[in-house]
Amino acid sequence: MDKDAGSMERIFNYGAGAIVTKSIGLNPREGYPNPTVVELEFGILNAMGLPNPSIEKFGDEIKKLKKFNIPIIGSIFGSNSKEFTELAKKMETFGVTAIELNMSCPHAKGYGLEIGSDPKLVKEITYNVKESTSIPVFVKISPNLPSVTEIAKSAESGNADGIVAINTVKAMKIDLDLKIPVLSNKVGGYSGKAIKPIGVRCVYEISQNVDIPVIGVGGITTGEDALEYIMAGASAIQIGSGIYYRGLDIFKKICDELEIWMKDHGHKNLSELIGVAHI
Ligand SMILES: Cc1cc2nc3c(=O)[nH]c(=O)nc-3n(C[C@H](O)[C@H](O)[C@H](O)COP(=O)(O)O)c2cc1C
Repeated sequence: MDKDAGSMERIFNYGAGAIVTKSIGLNPREGYPNPTVVELEFGILNAMGLPNPSIEKFGDEIKKLKKFNIPIIGSIFGSNSKEFTELAKKMETFGVTAIELNMSCPHAKGYGLEIGSDPKLVKEITYNVKESTSIPVFVKISPNLPSVTEIAKSAESGNADGIVAINTVKAMKIDLDLKIPVLSNKVGGYSGKAIKPIGVRCVYEISQNVDIPVIGVGGITTGEDALEYIMAGASAIQIGSGIYYRGLDIFKKICDELEIWMKDHGHKNLSELIGVAHI
């Protein structure tokens, strides 16, 4: 979840298997004024407003990474199918390994949930992106939906190669002294430890209902957290806020913790644990 080559390279060197970029749009966006990120007792609340340098400028960052052979998943956001398609085509020319369609930001008007909660639009955008690119396309799902399964199935019917669940949970924090919301945008997205049970539930429901792989994300900070997601049906996991809690070497720490758990419990291969909690 980053947008400059230097920090992406650093994360990779700390043991991440791939890197998802910060979501990139057609035009440069400054994002919202501060405060945009606040640490709460059990998680992190943010409303950054999708700041990004624009797809045109972002290409230079990706090109810098090419020589390191780092698998990059290019995340994009748009307001309609045409924008998503144009962004996806550009990402592909930059040499990314896969594309992630962010249709689930809870605090970016016109770019997030308005799209990601409409099953027809999700199918149409996914289908059009798939038709115009030849690399894998993942669709990132919001937990702020009456049915995550319905939207995941729409993405699957648009030929998505995988589902990413979940984006942040729509939330707010009030400053008692100022008597106003803390974030400049008032509403933000909640991430980190507190949302893990929500993410695990979404992955469980989605993976029971689609035949494409599910990538789990939300509140993962330990090897045991990762295992929960895997047993719920995730084939891979992403880490965002965990970096804040455990530092950049969280990737290596989680890999080590997974290895120890597997050895202690007599498992040789993580893939034999995918979805075992489905009963
Ligand atoms: C500061 C911050 C910025 C984020 N930016 C993006 C983004 O640009 N695109 C996106 O799809 N998700 C974004 N997310 C959501 C994360 O990718 C992830 O889905 C969510 O935070 C839950 O995972 P976590 O608990 O491991 O952070 C952001 C999260 C945080 C905390």
